[in-house]
Amino acid sequence: MSEKATLEYKGKKLELESVVGSEGEVGIDITQLRAKTGMITLDPGYGNTGSCTSDITFIDGEKGILRHRGYAIEELAEKSSFMETTFLVLYGHLPSAGELSTFEGDIRSEAGLHYGMKSHFEGFPDDAPPMAVLSAILNALACYNTELLTTATEGPAFTVPAAKIISKVRAIAAWTYRTSVGKPFMPPRPDLSYTGNFLHMMFSETFNLYEPLPEVERAMDLFFILHADHEQNCSTSTVRLVGSSRASLFSSVAAGVGALWGPLHGGANTEVIKMLTNIHENGIDPKEYVEQAKDKNSDVKLMGFGHRVYKSFDPRAKILKGQVDNVLKALKIDDPLLDIAKELEEMARSDPYFVERNLYPNVDFYSGILLRAIGIPVEMFTVLFAIGRMPGWIANWREMHVQSLRINRPRQIYTGETLRSYVPMADR
Ligand code: SDX
Repeated sequence: MSEKATLEYKGKKLELESVVGSEGEVGIDITQLRAKTGMITLDPGYGNTGSCTSDITFIDGEKGILRHRGYAIEELAEKSSFMETTFLVLYGHLPSAGELSTFEGDIRSEAGLHYGMKSHFEGFPDDAPPMAVLSAILNALACYNTELLTTATEGPAFTVPAAKIISKVRAIAAWTYRTSVGKPFMPPRPDLSYTGNFLHMMFSETFNLYEPLPEVERAMDLFFILHADHEQNCSTSTVRLVGSSRASLFSSVAAGVGALWGPLHGGANTEVIKMLTNIHENGIDPKEYVEQAKDKNSDVKLMGFGHRVYKSFDPRAKILKGQVDNVLKALKIDDPLLDIAKELEEMARSDPYFVERNLYPNVDFYSGILLRAIGIPVEMFTVLFAIGRMPGWIANWREMHVQSLRINRPRQIYTGETLRSYVPMADR
């Protein structure tokens, strides 16, 4: 029997059940609140509201803990591959060698795009925002896979669309970039890893195949691992909400792209580089910039800092910061933006404004410098965040259907005009 919470209002009492998670988190179950009291709770931004129970990812924001299916992100980052972590996030266990080989074969078999899609890419302006193209083409995949527009959670009816999306998102990203710079599409190579194939499709030329340094391919794969899932963040919640109407996996992840695009969410990795470049190119004193970010009257934020859940260092930021040094050293790059980033971090870490608000670097603070070093164009950064997050979106969409959750339909407290009569035009 669960511990109960008692709600008392205007002399009436209601006992509410509690739900205790496997890590000791406590949620008060209010599913019967309105039926029994006529009242609802109010929590704009959902900072205090759990939308579901989930087995996929655990975050302890106070301690800077992130685990996928019980495995610490630090271990997955050091010992796993993006394909292995993808399988883990999707199916709940680390794959055997046979399972991984079959999974990678399924992904490999779906690497290309239907040639009919070429005209979609060519129909967009060269300066089309890549996240708009990504969302559009993910939705368009539904047009070529109408037999997969189901809410299946088991067997090929789920594993095939999941593999298609996880695999094809690379080609969509690469074709988006190459179309924007007037380059022909580069077909995938069956002999390359998931991440190696992505880099090949992005950067190879017809007579000059791109061969990444091992450090670069490893860093790119690590970037994807670190973005694989992050419990009920804005875009994952969007995928769940859209999927809760029983919309297809294609349209649900396409909606997730839209949410991720925002500069407060996945778009922050792009904004961080714009911020660091602005500081560097305009000779802005980083101290001055930090002061602007603290000033409520300025619209300046220290992009890449702060997090709704982490009230200590985002563990992913720590790992990325270490990787950036490795990749820059391997590529013999000396990026002044890294020095500025480290200076901003050092200042913010000792500034009461940031310390009192528990504002630390998040996953986006160093990721852009890594992508820049690899040669990814800044306008593609958030697209790469989406590639990494695809397993998490799909795993959450599937879990929601396994739990047969009802359509998401929040309530509201109405604060507008009360009843009034129509006023004829002559009397207005
Ligand atoms: C991601 O949810 C996830 O898990 C997301 C993510 C994932 O993997 O899916 O981790 C990925 O989206 C990371 C976050 C990337 N966004 C940014 O880096 C943008 C900059 N950060 C902020 O916009 C902000 O910190 C958020 C959006 C990340 C969090 O916003 P909250 O939780 O709504 O916090 P808030 O805006 O209410 O801030 C609380 C206080 C405010 O000051 P006061 O009103 O208390 O005086 O902190 C201040 C804010 O002004 N603040 C900042 C700041 N972030 C918060 N001040 C300056 N610079 C910042 N970056």
